[in-house]
Amino acid sequence: MGSRLLEQFRHFFGCEHVVPVGSGTGGLSLALRCIGVRGRAVLVPALTCPAVPLAVIAAGGVPRAVDVLRADATIDPAAVADALTTDVAAIIAVDSFGYPARIAELRRVADPLGCPIVEDACQAYGGRVDGVALGTLGDIGVVSFGYSKNVWLDAGGLLLTDDRQLAAEVLAMQQAPDYRLLSRVRSRVTLKLMLSGHEDWFPALVRHMGLLRYAFPAHQAQMLPVAWRAFVDELPHTLANLKRLAGAAAGFAGVETFEYSAEGWLPWRYSVRVPQEQARVSFEAAMAAAGVPLTHLFPPLTGPFVDLGPDECPEARRLSEMIVNFKHSARAADTQAMAESVESAIAAWPGVDGAGFC
Ligand SMILES: Cc1ncc(COP(=O)(O)O)c(C=O)c1O
Repeated sequence: MGSRLLEQFRHFFGCEHVVPVGSGTGGLSLALRCIGVRGRAVLVPALTCPAVPLAVIAAGGVPRAVDVLRADATIDPAAVADALTTDVAAIIAVDSFGYPARIAELRRVADPLGCPIVEDACQAYGGRVDGVALGTLGDIGVVSFGYSKNVWLDAGGLLLTDDRQLAAEVLAMQQAPDYRLLSRVRSRVTLKLMLSGHEDWFPALVRHMGLLRYAFPAHQAQMLPVAWRAFVDELPHTLANLKRLAGAAAGFAGVETFEYSAEGWLPWRYSVRVPQEQARVSFEAAMAAAGVPLTHLFPPLTGPFVDLGPDECPEARRLSEMIVNFKHSARAADTQAMAESVESAIAAWPGVDGAGFC
């Protein structure tokens, strides 16, 4: 990757060291391997992408799920404080659905124990908190250019840090990838899936195992400057249009939007909560009628990567049922068109009756 592009990244994110990595999953795994999590627990949000606990396992750590906040689906600092025992090697704070994790609060509990925070900004980069770029709020940040992210290539990502030694370690590790470890992890996880009857996870697993690359994929190097420039140029429009999409969705009775922040909020998919089942069905029908695709994402990590008891992480469970996502693209024009469709669908929908859902 050219030094000019790396300089642009350093400038955009405002951090000292930017290391191109193979994927978000690979970047998380490299970060954790440098921290040294082997045989120790790593706290992860209970509602997140399976790539997060998978990266922990690939680094030799043990993912431990912590509940999330209903307000923004990010890891709950109070629950983290309860879970921070001496065997915890790191915390992965995911900027969930584009919303910034509460890293200042997490620091208050983690710093006194010397526990590093890895900020997973894969779903959120481009947003800022008080002018500080998401991805640089933790000790190490990770960004993805993979499937459906804000900059969407086939693969690739960035590791962001101000720590020179850590950046040097990551670079050294990339040059000597431990393929033996990778194949051991692959067979262990595959065996666990088979024994636990989770064959349905195989497609996701195969995809993410493929994403456990450590080096930036050479075939993406030419595309990245073009995709990055388009992303930066469109950013103001994308933010403005997302605001409009949020406003449009809020017009449907029973829909709760996440709190909006003009700078700290750039979701890869725009998410809303619809707590009542009846309202959810109605909302989905209205959107389907308008040709607006919605998705449900990320069940809590009750799958093969993290064992969750039935009473654990109740907020993550509730949110996983009520969150629906607009698959907006980061391209401004698409998002604007979607906001217009949502507005007209809501205006035309005969079943809107606020009283029914309250
Ligand atoms: C929060 C989060 N972390 C990590 C990843 C993994 O990124 P990649 O697909 O580049 O491996 C994803 C991808 O969906 C994600 O949503």
